[in-house]
Amino acid sequence: MKEKADTIFHAAKKAFLEAENSKSLYDAKVLYMGKKGEFSLILKELKNLPAEEKPKWGQKLNEIRKRLETLYLQRKQELEEQELSSQVEKDILDLSLPPPEHPSGSLHPITKVIDEIIHIFTPLGWSVQTGPLVESDWYNFTALNIPPFHPSRDLQDTFYVEEDFVLRTHTSPVQIRALQSFSPPLAVLAPGPVFRHDSDISHSPMFHQIEGLLVDKHVSFADLKGTLSFFLKKLFGPVEMRFRPSFFPFTEPSAEYDISCLFCKKRGCPVCKKSGWIEVGGCGLVHPNVFSSAGLKGNWEGFAFGLGLERLAMLLYNIPNIRLLFENDLRFLRQFENL
Ligand code: PHE
Repeated sequence: MKEKADTIFHAAKKAFLEAENSKSLYDAKVLYMGKKGEFSLILKELKNLPAEEKPKWGQKLNEIRKRLETLYLQRKQELEEQELSSQVEKDILDLSLPPPEHPSGSLHPITKVIDEIIHIFTPLGWSVQTGPLVESDWYNFTALNIPPFHPSRDLQDTFYVEEDFVLRTHTSPVQIRALQSFSPPLAVLAPGPVFRHDSDISHSPMFHQIEGLLVDKHVSFADLKGTLSFFLKKLFGPVEMRFRPSFFPFTEPSAEYDISCLFCKKRGCPVCKKSGWIEVGGCGLVHPNVFSSAGLKGNWEGFAFGLGLERLAMLLYNIPNIRLLFENDLRFLRQFENL
């Protein structure tokens, strides 16, 4: 046994030292130390030895195996270093080659519109607030002066999560959250996704709105109109704005606001359906019941407005189908990279 083990040890050692590259070194390792290698074969012979000899030989063979492993690792390192330096010598560094490209992503058009709106309002002292997407019925409806069974709940096809929880149908519940978190005077914007059971080429079950709420002393309809007109001119350039009477349970009086058509300058075109005007969103003076739901006391007044962002982006960039905004087709999204 001793002779056999010694022979294998010397043969393996020789093979390792003579290996010319890491590949042949590896082959030698497999030959002598692999599962079916010569060394494993004598390990199997151990069981034929008399019991009292087994521990002694077991230990001996183990030592030999360890020594071989160390030899292998030393040689491996040597060879790898040699290979690396000869590789480096061979390679010519071509400094004129262009560097590898690192393609970077860009912001989604809806994110860009949100950022743009925020940048218009923050210099005026407005801050940004968010709220949960799953809202209690109370925040989404009741606190906004829409009691249970009120017919206006049907206007927004609501996704119910549980009996008292909905996917918020608008960003208006953030008005209540803002009133509960800060004491007036306050001015907040609340951008984010909202959900309605609605789907066609211009409606998607998930879309984005941005809400504005300002509360102070002596806030009038003129302040609302002035603020919106400033905002829309900043966003769209020189456009006209008009108010149309409307109804929202959480504002009184309420209006919808339009801008003069960006495409035909009020002459009438398919985009504005020949009306000369494009509808942007809803607004009004905060209903006193909204203040009381939020627990706000005192002589406060305020205005609020909301608008849908996909519609805006579709108009601005001439996007024919709302789904293009959510399909993540890079060919579509890349068009907005530098806008
Ligand atoms: N929440 C309303 C909607 O989704 C819009 C709105 C916001 C109206 C604020 C008035 C004031 O249609």
